[in-house]
Amino acid sequence: MTDKKVRWGILGAARVNERMLPAILEASNSQLIAIASRRAGAAKLTLEKYAPDKFDVTCYDDLDALITDENIEAIYCPMANKEHVEWAIKAINSGKHVLIEKPMALNLNDIIAIEAAAIENKVKVMEGFMYRFHPQHSRIKEIVESGIIGDVLSCRASYSFLMRAARMYRIESDIKHGGGAMWDIGPYAIHSLRWCFGQEPKTVIAHAELNGVGADLVTSGVLDFGKDAKGRARFGHFDISFERSRKSEYEIIGTKGWVKCHAAWVFQNDVPNISWGLEDGKYTEERFAPSNHFVLEIEHFSDCVLNNKAPYLTFDDAKANCIVINAILQSVESGKRIYLD
Ligand SMILES: NC(=O)c1ccc[n+]([C@@H]2O[C@H](COP(=O)([O-])OP(=O)(O)OC[C@H]3O[C@@H](n4cnc5c(N)ncnc54)[C@H](OP(=O)(O)O)[C@@H]3O)[C@@H](O)[C@H]2O)c1
Repeated sequence: MTDKKVRWGILGAARVNERMLPAILEASNSQLIAIASRRAGAAKLTLEKYAPDKFDVTCYDDLDALITDENIEAIYCPMANKEHVEWAIKAINSGKHVLIEKPMALNLNDIIAIEAAAIENKVKVMEGFMYRFHPQHSRIKEIVESGIIGDVLSCRASYSFLMRAARMYRIESDIKHGGGAMWDIGPYAIHSLRWCFGQEPKTVIAHAELNGVGADLVTSGVLDFGKDAKGRARFGHFDISFERSRKSEYEIIGTKGWVKCHAAWVFQNDVPNISWGLEDGKYTEERFAPSNHFVLEIEHFSDCVLNNKAPYLTFDDAKANCIVINAILQSVESGKRIYLD
């Protein structure tokens, strides 16, 4: 064991820092060195808001100053979705390891470019799906792999929250520029479904309701994962919305039972629990001790940096998610089923 800590910088005074900034402070193998924003004073305000007692963190009013800060080893990039590629590549080319918020990028070529830069600069890069670091998901996988719910034939993922007036700027750009629900909460839904089946869909079909600027407020669709060894259809269903109350659940349904994650976004006062039921009526609920998946995500990434390990979430995973999301958007636009292989 070593008590060495990775020195982090945060690129952007984004709202998500409400969760991530305290997580970097709490992570046992990490240290927050600086935060930067393009808006004068915004980095300082963010620090004062989420870590009022922290005086040894540098606040930059300039993103490049943070990227070139030689004291920083790893950068957390919570820029707007369409900006991830530009700033992640700048940070990578400056020799920094980068944790990029989901979605890593809006198209496959940009992810390929980020990967190439990471290889060239020998740095770690990961897409920031914090939810996956909560232990409830590995428990769900364990239940499925035990065979108790039988063969998995159907999965459904439902993610939503009610967009408040103050956050409306998030739906002021169209889908092509990273706006709307599909690029915001859609990545979770698609990531969950791909993980539930443990493979990639063969076709997708989706419907959406767009606002006046072309951002989707609600999208729903079906991913066809092809037939299983016994010739049975396997579908993944998703629905996401900015017009409904908070939901972040997924359910895996097999031939003998089902298992459900009730809250993939575990908030401070949530008591995370999973439940599962069998054909004979047996119903089980399991609760988990509080654990902060943002802290676990940061500790994992810092561990990869410190000990030269490969990040749990790979470039191939980021590419596959991006391919499916783009196919869904293509289906929304064309009204047609899109074939992926
Ligand atoms: N993992 C999670 O739980 C989670 C949760 C929410 C969002 N996200 C992801 O994190 C990223 C950021 O999302 P977010 O909702 O936190 O973003 P946001 O608040 O909209 O901020 C995005 C960027 O826009 C700039 N910005 C922030 N507030 C602004 C304002 N009032 N006016 C103008 N510019 C402003 C900031 O850069 P400057 O400071 O340089 O201006 C910031 O880095 C997205 O990729 C999103 O998908 C992840």
